[in-house]
Amino acid sequence: MEIKKVMVIGAGQMGGGVAQVSAQTGWETVQYDINMELVNKGIGVMDKNLSRNVSKGKMTEDEKKAILGRIKPSVSLEDAADCDLVIEAIVENFEIKKKVFSELDRIAPPHAILASNTSSLPITQIAATTRRPDKVIGMHFMNPVPVMKLVEVIRGLATSDETYQIVEEASIKMGKVPVWCKDVPGFISNRVLQVMINEALWELYEGVAPAENIDNIMKLGMNHPMGPCALADLIGLDTILSILNVMYEGYGDPKYRPSPLLKQYVQAGWLGRKTGKGIFDYSK
Ligand code: CAA
Ligand code: NAD
Repeated sequence: MEIKKVMVIGAGQMGGGVAQVSAQTGWETVQYDINMELVNKGIGVMDKNLSRNVSKGKMTEDEKKAILGRIKPSVSLEDAADCDLVIEAIVENFEIKKKVFSELDRIAPPHAILASNTSSLPITQIAATTRRPDKVIGMHFMNPVPVMKLVEVIRGLATSDETYQIVEEASIKMGKVPVWCKDVPGFISNRVLQVMINEALWELYEGVAPAENIDNIMKLGMNHPMGPCALADLIGLDTILSILNVMYEGYGDPKYRPSPLLKQYVQAGWLGRKTGKGIFDYSK
């Protein structure tokens, strides 16, 4: 199957990035969110990213215009009716994703692949909410999507080889490197990454050191581009808490239990960069 039209569900930091890369690939791209304000906010971020590329001489103004011209804003899931690939990137919550997938299954043409950018939720369970589990797959992009090379491709129990091959090819066309794994809670990436971030939050909770010190240890000592606290704020503390809870419940192993401080930050609405405050303050 040749992909010509893609729909991205969710215009947050991940969905917006995926839509940008999809349009850059040359695909007609529908950018959906629950209201036009959120869709426009996502497209505004895209515009800013592309303008930065123009000012750095990495693309021309005309190329930027052509990319944005391939984006169609949408607040109706019915727009999936003529799409070949739908990539969902909404909140990390199974019940909300379930509703969206069963709707998409009703609307999208029978050949369409339904992919989820979930960080941790079982692809097999998401697939079971549709009548096409063979065409449901995980396409786990990394943040920030336009920069990071990886797509972790998660094969659910029923995902067909054909679906996997189409998605592998699509990821390469998007300029990414697909790496597959089986469907386990947290996949490969977040089983490793979130345990590190959670441990940093436990250290913070115990008062071992301030966040700056924890980050400096990992940046200067381990050559990480960002420390775990800054990375947590980039990802979103709500998303991290959801991922840890999925792994905690999924494996029944206390090593995944979220730090109480993480829970408290989420309760306070301190979700990281997206709310202007998380472990660090971004209000200035
Ligand atoms: N969107 C688009 N482009 C961005 C960007 C964004 N949000 N942030 C940075 N960039 C671009 C910059 O424009 C710059 O581009 P050029 O090379 O063309 O000039 C490039 O990225 C480097 O940016 P900066 O020089 O401003 O800053 P930096 O060198 O510190 O890099 C970073 C920023 C790429 C974010 C880097 O700090 C990094 O790699 N951090 C770690 C990110 C990471 O670990 N991501 C994975 C998160 S986990 C995940 O995604 C999975 C999950 O399920 C939670
Ligand atoms: P975000 O909070 O930035 O954006 C989520 C978007 O989903 C919002 O714009 C919201 O309006 C929209 N949304 C909520 N309910 C919706 C619904 N019913 N229908 C359509 N849209 C709805 O979140 P994000 O960081 O972009 O994360 C999105 C997904 O990507 C999650 O599954 C997350 O686990 C995954 N993910 C996140 C990261 C990360 O670093 N943040 C990395 C990889 C994967």
